[in-house]
Formats: sequence, C-alpha cells, structure tokens
Amino acid sequence: MEGLIPGMTESVDPCSSADILPHMSVPEIRFATEADLPAITEIYEHAVRYGTATFELIPPDLAEMTRRFRVLMDGGFPYFVAIVEGGVIGYAYAGPYRPRPAYRFTVENSVYLRPSTHRRGIGFRLMQRLIAECETRGYRQMIAVIGDSANAGSIGVHTKCGFEMIGTHPSVGLKFGRWLDTVMMQRALGEGGTTVPKD
Ligand SMILES: CC(C)(COP(=O)(O)OP(=O)(O)OC[C@H]1O[C@@H](n2cnc3c(N)ncnc32)[C@H](O)[C@@H]1OP(=O)(O)O)[C@@H](O)C(=O)NCCC(=O)NCCS
Repeated sequence: MEGLIPGMTESVDPCSSADILPHMSVPEIRFATEADLPAITEIYEHAVRYGTATFELIPPDLAEMTRRFRVLMDGGFPYFVAIVEGGVIGYAYAGPYRPRPAYRFTVENSVYLRPSTHRRGIGFRLMQRLIAECETRGYRQMIAVIGDSANAGSIGVHTKCGFEMIGTHPSVGLKFGRWLDTVMMQRALGEGGTTVPKD
C-alpha cells in the first residue's frame, strides 16, 4: 500500500448512474496487451481515487502499471481485458498470492470494471475466464483479498464464481478518513488440495 495521506477524506465520484451505457453488447474477453494499459490505468485510477476496493491511495501512472504488467507476464500469470465496441471496459488478472515459494500454486486475483458497466455480468465473465485459465496453468487455489466488507459487488461476484468466505480482517486499512476491513475469499482450482501436483 502507498503511504497514508493524513488529510484524505471521502472523494466524490464524478461518474453517476447517468453514465450507464444504455445498450451494451456482449463483451469480448481476450488476453491483455501493453496497448490496453492506458485504459486499464484509467480504470484503476478511478478505483483508487473514489473506491475502497483497493487500499492504494495514489493512482499508479502508466509507467508503473506497465512495470506491474511486465512482472506478471514474466511470472507467467494471466491477464484479461473485456472489450466492448473496441474499448477496454474492464480487466482481471492473477498474480502471486505471496512471494515465498511454497505458495507457488496459489494466486491472488484482481478484477476492475469501468463504473458505467457494473452489474451486467461482465465481472462474472472476466472471472470465469481467469479461473479457467489459471486451472489450465496448473494453479490450485485462488484468493480474493477484497477491500471493504461493504463491497457487495466484489463479494457477490466472487460468491457467484464459487469462492467461499474465509474471514474478515477488521479495520486494517485507513482510507477516506475511515477504517476499512479486508474480506478474504478463496476458491479451489482444478483438483485443489485433493492431489499433489508435480512441480
Ligand atoms: C466487483 C466488480 C468487478 C463486479 O463486476 P460486475 O460486472 O459489476 O458484477 P456482475 O454483474 O458480474 O455480478 C455477478 C454477481 O455478483 C453479485 N453482485 C454484483 N454486483 C452486486 C452489487 N452491487 N450488490 C450485490 N450483489 C452484486 C450478484 O450476485 C451478481 O449476479 P446476478 O447479477 O446474477 O445477481 C465490479 O462491480 C467492480 O469493478 N467494482 C469496483 C472494483 C472492485 O470492487 N473490484 C474488486 C476488487 S477485489
């Protein structure tokens, strides 16, 4: 997490329900490329500035998002975007849960959409594709660390994707002048913990 900004208080989200796209076609889900990163950076910037799903306080710029993307690609992790009418409206990726090597079969996921596109099944579709790809790549557990126990959208999409509630870390984040919980959810991938994979 970035450093705390002592005076940071709740920001007003400039996106309102008036932004909701009236007729959205079914999104294409495909692997992300570096050309998608400006849009991804913009989507994440909004989540950092106005949301509590992420505990980052300062939006990372394109250079930092590119650095993070390359680290994931070099590590062999999947990264998807959802496209509607040629534009990136959301993304989901998996990365290492923790760096110590015994965690190598466990991934942590992230999923973010443009606010105007929420609650249309796109987060679910992105997550389904990410889960399938992680299973293909041999990962055995996926963990969601959800910022804010009031994040009904994230808890809802993970539940619909088969994640189970593990527990809540109360008041571990401070953003917009208030304490925030993290909610831990987890889903087995493939054979999960029932068999031991070959390295
Ligand atoms: C979380 C997020 C990715 C969910 O994506 P989405 O496309 O809005 O969710 P979906 O439409 O696929 O919803 C899937 C299920 O989740 C649940 N759900 C989604 N949004 C919900 C909400 N606001 N309240 C309650 N349940 C919700 C529902 O069960 C829904 O299934 P249903 O529509 O059949 O009832 C999206 O809301 C988002 O980008 N939020 C901000 C960033 C964020 O919180 N990211 C997660 C970080 S861990």
